[in-house]
Order: sequence, then C-alpha cells, then structure tokens
Amino acid sequence: MKNNAIPTVSLNNGGQIPALGYGVAGLNKGDILNRAIEITLEEGYRMFDNAPFYGNEAEVGAALRSSGVKREELFISTKLPNDCHAYDDALRAFHKSRTAMGLDYLDMYLIHHPMPLRGKFCEAWKALEKLYEEGLVRTIGISNFKERHIEQILATCKVKPMVNELECNPYFTIAPLRKYCDEHEIRVVTWFPLGGPVVPPPPIPPRPPGFKILTEDGTLKDIGAKYGKTPAQVALRWAVDSGMIPIPKSGKPGRIKENALIFDFCLTAEELGRIEALDQDRRLGPDPDIYDDDAAVAMDV
Ligand SMILES: NC(=O)c1ccc[n+]([C@@H]2O[C@H](COP(=O)([O-])OP(=O)(O)OC[C@H]3O[C@@H](n4cnc5c(N)ncnc54)[C@H](OP(=O)(O)O)[C@@H]3O)[C@@H](O)[C@H]2O)c1
Repeated sequence: MKNNAIPTVSLNNGGQIPALGYGVAGLNKGDILNRAIEITLEEGYRMFDNAPFYGNEAEVGAALRSSGVKREELFISTKLPNDCHAYDDALRAFHKSRTAMGLDYLDMYLIHHPMPLRGKFCEAWKALEKLYEEGLVRTIGISNFKERHIEQILATCKVKPMVNELECNPYFTIAPLRKYCDEHEIRVVTWFPLGGPVVPPPPIPPRPPGFKILTEDGTLKDIGAKYGKTPAQVALRWAVDSGMIPIPKSGKPGRIKENALIFDFCLTAEELGRIEALDQDRRLGPDPDIYDDDAAVAMDV
C-alpha cells in the first residue's frame, strides 16, 4: 500500500478527521465499487462518505472490512434518512446502517437534510447525542443545515454538531454560512467540491447549454499551472486551505489519485481571493429551506 498520508484536522470535540474524503454516491456496481475502494485506500484516503440513499452501505462496508486497513485508521461516515427524524426512528435507522456496514461503531453520523417543513430535526439530534454518548458513533453532525436550522440545534443541544456537510465549490462558495460555521467551531465538509456530476443521472435535469464546467475553469487552470496542478486539484486545495474537507467522488483510478495529490502545495491568500471571486451562487442541489419532496431526495446522487 502506497499511502500518501492524507493529514487530519481537528474537530470541536477534540477528535480528528481526515482533511480529504471520498464520496461513494453512485458507486453501485460490484467490481467498480470494489476497485474504487481498493484504489482510494492505496492512494491514502481513509474517510468514506456514505448514506443509505446511495444504496451501497453493505457493499462499501464489506469492501472496507476486507481491505486489510486497520479499523482504527478508517473514518466511516453515513447519514440519517430524511423520513427518520422521529427519535426512535433515528435510533433504528442508525442501527440499520451500522448493521448493514458490518461495523461495531461509526466514525461519523450526520442528519442528511434538515427537512425544516417537517420540524423534527431537533428530535433527531437528541437521538444522535444518545448514540454519541453511548460511544456508538465518534463524531455527530448535520448536513445541508443553514444558519437558522443550526441556531435551533444550538439552542437545545447538549453536544454541539462537529460537522456540517454542505454543497460548496468555487462556483458556490456560501461564504456567510461558512463564516457562521467557523464561528461556532463546526467543521464544513463539502459535497460537489468539483462542481457535481457533469452528466447528472436522471431525474436531475441535464445541464443547460453553456453550463460552465468547474474543472475546466480558466482561473483554476491558471493558478494550477504555477504548481503543476490541475483545476480539480486547485478547487480541492481551495477547500482545504479554507479549513474545509472536500469529499470528491470519481470512479476513475487516475482521478482518484489526482484528487489525493493536493497536500504538497498551498495556495496564497491572493490566489484564495481569486478563487472566492469565482462565486456564481450556483446551487445545483436542492435548497434545504424548501426541500421536502420525495422526488427531490433523488437529487442527492
Ligand atoms: N450530504 C449531501 O447531501 C450530499 C449530496 C450530494 C453528494 N454528497 C457526497 O458528495 C460526494 C461527491 O459528489 P459528486 O461526485 O456528485 O460531485 P463531485 O465530487 O463534485 O464530482 C463531480 C464529477 O467530477 C468528476 N471528477 C472527479 N474527479 C475529477 C477530476 N480530477 N477532474 C475532472 N473531473 C473529475 C467525477 O466523474 P468521474 O467519476 O467520471 O471521474 C464526478 O462525477 C458524493 O459521492 C457524496 O458522497 C453528499
């Protein structure tokens, strides 16, 4: 095993989390999934982002368990489904995921979406606190939570969320929400860190004509040329240098490797500023405030 030694960063509970993860959404065919997990581990990835919705918890769990990498080196995360925010449902959902993955404990468990129109995410948080206190999960957090949702959690929680997993990339920088999370010591993990799938699977509508592909961006190319890095590597490094944890997905061995090779350079403050200025407020996933539609659940792929 090569092990590029991806560093870790700290969380507000004193725990550590890898500074780069791997998203497993869309990896559903046995051979492709197994090969991707094998390559990611060879390239030094240790954090794996999953969700019951991705339909591959059992396969990912099995691939990680048989990988030969020690359990304590891995950081395995999954999420609470949107229809399980009631306290008992949340506990049941956690145990279902843990059992499917064949694990004694999870490294991270997140509330997948706040679903504010259903008004139950604080109840779900109580369940995550119980699981955390019992030692069944080492890190608890939220995903797709905006400031107003986080405020409600902070007003009643015993344990503060350690992580908020958000759609974020140089075309969707969500600077105020990131600042809010920083102020509350909630570490931001970024999904769609490379701008999301170029050819989205149905039912996500096809990209409109003229859609700008983030990994072809001229500014990212220009900055990357100085370091011998690709635009994708610069986008991921921007996340890391901004204190966030990107979880890119690729099914292609060359890209899995490329995406991990971002810890031998640093962006300057001026370069980080140029990247922030690329923001187009381009949200591709559902807006968490209004998201309460079963069809929209399928957008999380
Ligand atoms: N919490 C949430 O609500 C939520 C929502 C959505 C996603 N997620 C998580 O975020 C992860 C990442 O999302 P994503 O894969 O949709 O978006 P992404 O990481 O932004 O990747 C988008 C596309 O970029 C391609 N790509 C990867 N590396 C590349 C490179 N070096 N150069 C050029 N293109 C590259 C990939 O295609 P190829 O496979 O063809 O290389 C992939 O389809 C998911 O797997 C999932 O774990 C979480």
